Amino acid sequence: MSVNKEVKKITTNTLLKMKSAGEKISMITAYDFSFAKIFDAAGIDIILVGDSASNVMAGHETTLPITLDQMIYHASSVVRGVDRCLVIVDLPFGAYQGNSKEALHSTIRIMKETGAHAIKLEGGEEVLESVKRIISSGVPVMGHLGLTPQSIYKFGTYTVRAKEEAEADKLKKDALLLQEAGCFAIVLEKIPASLAKEVSESLTIPTIGIGAGKHCDGQVLVMHDMLGINTEFKPRFLRQYLNMHQQITGAVQNYIKDVKNKNFPNENEQY
Ligand code: KIV
Repeated sequence: MSVNKEVKKITTNTLLKMKSAGEKISMITAYDFSFAKIFDAAGIDIILVGDSASNVMAGHETTLPITLDQMIYHASSVVRGVDRCLVIVDLPFGAYQGNSKEALHSTIRIMKETGAHAIKLEGGEEVLESVKRIISSGVPVMGHLGLTPQSIYKFGTYTVRAKEEAEADKLKKDALLLQEAGCFAIVLEKIPASLAKEVSESLTIPTIGIGAGKHCDGQVLVMHDMLGINTEFKPRFLRQYLNMHQQITGAVQNYIKDVKNKNFPNENEQY
């Protein structure tokens, strides 16, 4: 696949045009310079510096422990690896739920200290005031509805959300409110494909799905899951494109063997 070098930078406007043109949007998470550089050069449209860093980078069970300072460290590393794609950073748990002033303060820190292009936050009506305040400061906001992992202790499980009518109705209402407030896109996580289709068709802004079926305007996967670095997480929605766990294990075992057998370094690998 060749990367279209004509498209200089992906902006939030590019994403709107892609939705209008029926072109699907590709999004992947990244948390460091080296992977961000590979994904950007491969032609990805969006890198999300997700608070899933709390799970896959720091080994926490949930996304709740990651701090704003830690997100800023990951995001600034990612931004240094990127020339072309849009970089969106998650506002972590505790950095915006207090009030809209706190939400704006956290956003300003992210924008000033990382060089990222937009932020994402979880929730609908409950965070609307913060969404409006951030957007009025000039920062683009991506919404996130359905399974919102920062609320895991409220939900109790990571199962599919909005299967019942009342929750589906609230999600549809929240999606419209986020669009009216000025969000440029919304992540729909782990909801029925039929609901995601209805929401995607009702909005003018793009929806980016994870476990939300093929009718979303784009898709996002966590890099550790799709590259097979993380082998324990195998939900139905996940397509694993590589088995890095196996490949890395083999490579490291070969290295260990070569060191033990005195095969590394050889004469050409020394000064
Ligand atoms: O933190 C994250 O990686 C996310 C995606 C799963 C959408 O929010």
